[in-house]
Amino acid sequence: MLEVRNITRSYGEGRTRVTALDDVSFTLGKGKLLAILGPSGSGKTTLVSIIAGLLEPTSGEIVMGGHAVHLRTTAQAARFRREKVGLVFQDHHLVPYLTARENLLLVPHLSGRVTRTHRELADTLLADFGLTARAAHKPSLLSGGERQRVAIARALMNAPEIMLVDEPTSSLDTERGLQVVELLGQQIHERDMTCLMVTHDPRMAAHADESLTLIDGRVA
Ligand SMILES: Nc1ncnc2c1ncn2[C@@H]1O[C@H](COP(=O)(O)OP(=O)(O)O)[C@@H](O)[C@H]1O
Ligand SMILES: [Mg+2]
Repeated sequence: MLEVRNITRSYGEGRTRVTALDDVSFTLGKGKLLAILGPSGSGKTTLVSIIAGLLEPTSGEIVMGGHAVHLRTTAQAARFRREKVGLVFQDHHLVPYLTARENLLLVPHLSGRVTRTHRELADTLLADFGLTARAAHKPSLLSGGERQRVAIARALMNAPEIMLVDEPTSSLDTERGLQVVELLGQQIHERDMTCLMVTHDPRMAAHADESLTLIDGRVA
C-alpha cells in the first residue's frame, strides 16, 4: 500500500544545513496502523509532510497504491491529497464557528453537494467516536480529546486510502490520549484502512500493529 524508499530530506544550505531525514525506508500494508515514534526533532513531521505530498524529498521516493507521490504536479498532488489522504495534524484545525457535525460536513458542503449519504456517514462517525451528544457543539465547548476525535472523524469522512496523523495526543493526558488512539485503531481496522500515526510518546504505540522509531532522521 505505502512504500517509503530511501527518503532523505535536508533543510537549508552550507553550514546551516540540517538533515531531517536520512535514508528512511519502510513499507506499510493495507489495513494496518503503524506508529512512528521518536523524540522531538527526529524528523517525524517532515516524514508525514513528504508522504502527504506537501513537501518534496531531497532524494528517494514515496509509492502509494503503485503510484509515485513526488512525481505529481502541484495540481495532481493537491487532488491526490484531497481524494486519497486523510490528514490530521497536531493542531486540530477545526473551524471554530461550525459545530462538530458541520465540521464533518464542511468538505462536501464546500464542493456544493451535501447528500443524505454524507449526512448519514457523518452521524455514523460521530457515533463511532462517541460524539453523538456533542454533535451540535462548537470546538470551543469540546474537550481536547473530543476535538481530536472530531478531527479524526472529519478526515475519515473522505474514506481516504491512507490516514496520516501527526501527534494526535500531544495536548492530552496519557489516559485520554490512549482512548483516542484506541478508537483510531478500532476504526482503522473496522474500515480496513491504512494509517500512519506519529507520536513522541512510546505508550501511544499500544494500539498499533507495527511501530518504528526515528532517531536523528534515521530508522533506529
Ligand atoms: N522548515 C524548516 N526549516 C529548517 N529546519 C527545519 C524545518 N522543519 C524542520 N526542521 C528541522 O528538521 C528536524 C526535524 O524536524 P521535524 O520533522 O519537525 O521533527 P519532529 O516532528 O520529529 O519533531 C529538526 O532538526 C528541525 O529543526
Ligand atoms: Mg513534529
